[in-house]
Amino acid sequence: MEMVKFSRRQIVLGCVTGVTAGVGYARYVEPGWLELTTKQVKLRGASLHRPLRVLHLSDLHASEFISAPFLQSAFEMGAAGKPDVICLTGDYITQGERYNEAGYEKALRWLSGIAPCFGVLGNHDAAWNPSPGQKTKVTALLERGGIRLLHNRSEYLSVGGSLVRFAGVGDLWIRQVDPIAAFSDPRPAEATILLSHNPDSKELFLDQDWDLMLCGHTHGGQLIIPKYGTPYAPVKDKRYVAGLLPYEYGLIHVTRGVGTVHGYRLNCRPEVSLLVVS
Ligand SMILES: [Fe+2]
Repeated sequence: MEMVKFSRRQIVLGCVTGVTAGVGYARYVEPGWLELTTKQVKLRGASLHRPLRVLHLSDLHASEFISAPFLQSAFEMGAAGKPDVICLTGDYITQGERYNEAGYEKALRWLSGIAPCFGVLGNHDAAWNPSPGQKTKVTALLERGGIRLLHNRSEYLSVGGSLVRFAGVGDLWIRQVDPIAAFSDPRPAEATILLSHNPDSKELFLDQDWDLMLCGHTHGGQLIIPKYGTPYAPVKDKRYVAGLLPYEYGLIHVTRGVGTVHGYRLNCRPEVSLLVVS
């Protein structure tokens, strides 16, 4: 068989075309290609009367790249899983005013009409609202959207005959994690679900009683390069970048999240996570 020979110009042109197609896919296709994942979560110490359906959403990152209609479509995808409760683990915006606040509020209100919604803040939410002690813009948006903010506190919810505690903390990077305050309510529950934006915060909860920790922050790595991995995983512990993983006596779920920071995703589709907890 005769070998086909390519000129140097043809090889360069082929490489440029391939790279351009890859960048175009990562910018214009994958970030909008939502994936609904369903995971069975078997808790070791819990005694729920029936499985609890938890919709875990994170890193919505409303911005010039992430529109309110896109977030609404993620919410509708999650709602189809008929959740008992919805947990949001931070980074509602990326930066400042670059999002459609009215459209976002409307979508959040729609979501909170589906099931009780709990949320915690991420580093972006607080970093761009530098007024500690004041009600921030994001906090006010969440309140209007019907999201119950668990900022270093717990709430109890009766679901299917079980009393479940939802504990939440502030963000690690801005030093707002207060485990003592979050777990200060001593009432017993059949299970405790902890919401914390950054999975690196896990060491701070070793003295607390929890079964499942929900996190975001990593975006699952956002850009996964074959045979290399991800250059983007802003955590110290690279074991907890995505998925359901054991930690000490509990489980940690790190979702890939819905939005992106710079508008790119590669081999790491935006995730709408339904957890069936028993
Ligand atoms: Fe994020």
